[in-house]
Amino acid sequence: MVVQPRLLEKLAGHVCKACGEQRAIFVVTSPEIWSRWGHTFLSSFADRKIDILPLFIPPGERYKQLKTVEHLAEKMIVAGAKRDALLMAFGGGVIGDMTGFLAAIYMRGIRYVQVPTTYLSQIDSSLGGKTGVNLRVGKNLLGSFHPPVAVFSDPAVLSTLPPAELRSGAVESVKAAVLGDADYFDWLEHNLDSLLAGETETLTRAIETSVRIKAEIVSLDERESGERMLLNLGHTVGHAIEAATRYRGLLHGEAVAWGMIASLHLAVARSALTLEQATRIEELTFRLGPFPRFRATSKVLLERTAGDKKHLQSARRFVLPVAIGKAIVVEDVSQQELLAAIQSMLRTMKERGV
Ligand SMILES: NC(=O)c1ccc[n+]([C@@H]2O[C@H](COP(=O)([O-])OP(=O)(O)OC[C@H]3O[C@@H](n4cnc5c(N)ncnc54)[C@H](O)[C@@H]3O)[C@@H](O)[C@H]2O)c1
Ligand SMILES: [Zn+2]
Repeated sequence: MVVQPRLLEKLAGHVCKACGEQRAIFVVTSPEIWSRWGHTFLSSFADRKIDILPLFIPPGERYKQLKTVEHLAEKMIVAGAKRDALLMAFGGGVIGDMTGFLAAIYMRGIRYVQVPTTYLSQIDSSLGGKTGVNLRVGKNLLGSFHPPVAVFSDPAVLSTLPPAELRSGAVESVKAAVLGDADYFDWLEHNLDSLLAGETETLTRAIETSVRIKAEIVSLDERESGERMLLNLGHTVGHAIEAATRYRGLLHGEAVAWGMIASLHLAVARSALTLEQATRIEELTFRLGPFPRFRATSKVLLERTAGDKKHLQSARRFVLPVAIGKAIVVEDVSQQELLAAIQSMLRTMKERGV
């Protein structure tokens, strides 16, 4: 993983160092990203005899489906790509997840490189090796663990990102700080304005630190059975909000922000976290807002946290913040506790949502 401002201008050198000399590279991207950054991308390859073959897909979560992966694979076959072909994901998490999945199944597996272009993909989705696509009945239900050969992140490409995407992605940085690094939390409190203003040095440091926290957790648990669950802080309720609102109206980070607020209420209610620490976390989170209100009852959200109504009666795993910089996975959260936390979160939403 390399994080470096203006890395895109030197991308060719980084790729050849990590993957060896190539004859051709298939680049999965979207027309919007290519129109903004394709020129810089191509100029880094100008002196090399490497064919750059862009494969375009439209932007949007709704294209993250098997049919898109099939189309891309057919284009690669027509272009003569064999098992030694190199794929590159040049875009946000949607493009990264799909390209990774294509690489996992194309001729039973080929190599790929990630060049993430959103804040979320630079700190989160490009790391950890999870790839996949959505089904109509749910998100990320088809997929594979297939880590990229390398990840090259250029904070400078974030200059064209819509501000709401940056804010939403930064929620995952606050999450990382809360669950694993109190110093990073302090640093974010002091540097969040500069991060949101797109200051390159601040972005670089924030990306590096978030990446380190995720990498440390993933290295303990590559296949997601134990520690990796910690990364789901705020996501139990966050995913429930996304499902209840049919993935419309809120960005992922915005839903996770509300989910974190619910976790804070739950943690304070069982005296696992002090009110003072919860308030600091809540205030830092809301500096990334304002977050949109949404329509869903506490009952529906509670049902959605189970994913399946049959499991409603049983207690379930939950990531509990217990201090700034520390979270634990607990197994004994009851329905009543979770419902009360969701209700408190909905009250906060009435006061602070927009
Ligand atoms: N694999 C994992 O571990 C993992 C983890 C978290 C999230 N994800 C997945 O990531 C996806 C979300 O990723 P995302 O938040 O990056 O969203 P995204 O890929 O949809 O990108 C958001 C928007 O920003 C645009 N964009 C991207 N880069 C840009 C740039 N530099 N300038 C201007 N516009 C740009 C895109 O075209 C898109 O419209 C979801 O599908 C989610 O499931 C995966
Ligand atoms: Zn997330």
